[in-house]
Parts: sequence; structure tokens; C-alpha cells
Amino acid sequence: MIIDLLLREHRNIDVLLVALQRELEIFERGIRPDYEVIRAIISYFEVYPELYHHPQEDLIFSKLKARDPDAASSVGDLAVEHQEVVERLHHFAQAIDAILADRELFRQDVGNIISDFIVRERHHMMWEEQDFFPAALKALSAQDWTEIASVLTNDGDPLFGETAAATSDALRAHILQLEQEAEAERSSVVLSTAPAGSP
Ligand SMILES: [Fe+2]
Repeated sequence: MIIDLLLREHRNIDVLLVALQRELEIFERGIRPDYEVIRAIISYFEVYPELYHHPQEDLIFSKLKARDPDAASSVGDLAVEHQEVVERLHHFAQAIDAILADRELFRQDVGNIISDFIVRERHHMMWEEQDFFPAALKALSAQDWTEIASVLTNDGDPLFGETAAATSDALRAHILQLEQEAEAERSSVVLSTAPAGSP
């Protein structure tokens, strides 16, 4: 079932948002976060949600519009939502790339951009899960879902096929590994710089 796959991808995205949140907390404590980890997370978002996840949702939304225009309009405008997601990601990427290129940015701005991205991304997924997906499940027939699946599989060439899923899983695992290493390094720095006899 496509919705189950989309929900699973939302959970995958959330795992990365948790890692990003962790880096934000480090930043807010005045320590330099691991910008390589943050950039890797952005790269993930630039590929998987953009190329695979959103197109599937867009297809479901267009079906919902055809089946039940009132339900679709009360849900909102998915195209606008997804456009905003793209713009936020672009804004975020520009800020992090500037930092990686050693350009000066206002501290406050960096913190705001990261936290804004996390909050809005979570909000966007929640909106889809609470409003959009239930409306689609209510309005679309079994045949609609079969049609959507056949468009997505496109004669055995799935839009989000096993290869893409495996690559996305591997990339996520790699990012989480980098995040763990950054965490381990930070805790060893804290330990070695702690004054002798401190608790
Ligand atoms: Fe989504």
C-alpha cells in the first residue's frame, strides 16, 4: 500500500530530523556543530523527498482532486506546500554552504534557519498524515490505488524502487554513523578538557 510506504518514509525522514535537532542543540550550547553531518542531511533531502517522495504524493493528490474536489480543497494545496518545502531546503543549503565556505553568517540566523527547517518539516509531515492521507484513503477507490501504483511502477521501473530504497537506507545509515562519530568525538573532548577533580 502506497500510503504505508509514504508513512515509512516519513519515519525515515524523522530519524534524520532527530540527528539535525541534536546538532542544533550543540550549536545552541555555543559549540561548533558538525556541518558535514548537517550538509549530508541536506543532501539526503535534496534527493529522496524531492525526486521520489513528493511526486508520489502529488499523484495521489491529483486523484483526490478528481474524486472529491471539496475534500481536496479543504485539505489545502499540496503543490504550494511542496514548493515551500523546496524553498526552505534551498535556503537552508545556501546557509550551510556559506558556512562551509568560511563566510561569516549571523549566529542567530543560522540557528533560526536550522530550527525553522526542523519545525516546518515536521509540521508538513503531520499535516499530510492527519489531513491529506486520511482524505485520500476516504475518497479514493481500490481501482484508483491500483492506477496510482501502475503509474508509479511504470512497467516494472518503479519510481521508488528497491534500488532507490536501498540507496536511501544506506545513505541514512551512513549519516547516522557520522553523527555517532561526531557525538563520540564531542564527548571525548568534553572529558579531556574537564578540570581534574570535577564531577
Ligand atoms: Fe510526505
